[in-house]
Amino acid sequence: MTNKTRHHALELHHVTKRHGSGDTAVTALDQVSLSIPPGTFTAVMGPSGSGKSTLLHCAAGLDRPDSGSVTLDGHDLTDLDETALTRLRRERMGFVFQSFNLVPTLTVAQNVALPLEFAGRRADTRQVRGLLTRLGLGDRTGHRPAELSGGQQQRVAIARALLSQPAIVFADEPTGALDTQSAREVLGILREAVSVSGQTIVMVTHDPVAASYADAVVFFADGRIADSLTRPDAAAVAARMASLGGGAR
Ligand SMILES: Nc1ncnc2c1ncn2[C@@H]1O[C@H](COP(=O)(O)OP(=O)(O)OP(=O)(O)O)[C@@H](O)[C@H]1O
Ligand SMILES: [Mg+2]
Repeated sequence: MTNKTRHHALELHHVTKRHGSGDTAVTALDQVSLSIPPGTFTAVMGPSGSGKSTLLHCAAGLDRPDSGSVTLDGHDLTDLDETALTRLRRERMGFVFQSFNLVPTLTVAQNVALPLEFAGRRADTRQVRGLLTRLGLGDRTGHRPAELSGGQQQRVAIARALLSQPAIVFADEPTGALDTQSAREVLGILREAVSVSGQTIVMVTHDPVAASYADAVVFFADGRIADSLTRPDAAAVAARMASLGGGAR
């Protein structure tokens, strides 16, 4: 481990990722370099199709870049085989998928406890219930995902990613399906994870108000970092978004 990597929770170095091949090939990430210090909250914004989800998937080792390197929590992901990568993900990382990815046959509480159990640890039932209650789902712990609204499913996905207090949490539009009040609650929990527990959060969002909870905003356009802001306020974020042509959704 070099000094440099020890000081970053996440480091991308000239990461390029193409999807598809031939005439339909799309360069989703084009030589992206990015360093994120531990204990910080970063928002990733940009128009639809600009590469935000691809960035999160490559950063979390769910997808392999075509070139460049990703260093997560001091580990160069290109050096890791699938087993080591899986272990790193289970022990150090939480991921909130844009499409939630809940297990349909499991209850809400079982879904939330699943990553911990995969990591060979026991989930504390009271802790699971407490987290779900904070997210407004205390009376839904025994339901299956299909019995929940989209916004409720999204909050289950958030609880699942946060339960083990992982060092780094990737969240892909975690408030995309939520009403203002639930979104505020979720953003407060994410902010607290950073400010109180020292976790690192990287969150994709289209919402300038959500981005204003972060310490910094990185703006993507056409697979490249187009701009960034530190200590963002919602108005400044909205103005930058507008100038990138994506607007706020
Ligand atoms: N599996 C795939 N196969 C082919 N092309 C893909 C695939 N996944 C993403 N792409 C393309 O790569 C580009 C970046 O996609 P990505 O999902 O990263 O965008 P995004 O910024 O997350 O968009 P959104 O805000 O709509 O979620 C898009 O042009 C998309 O069509
Ligand atoms: Mg996306």
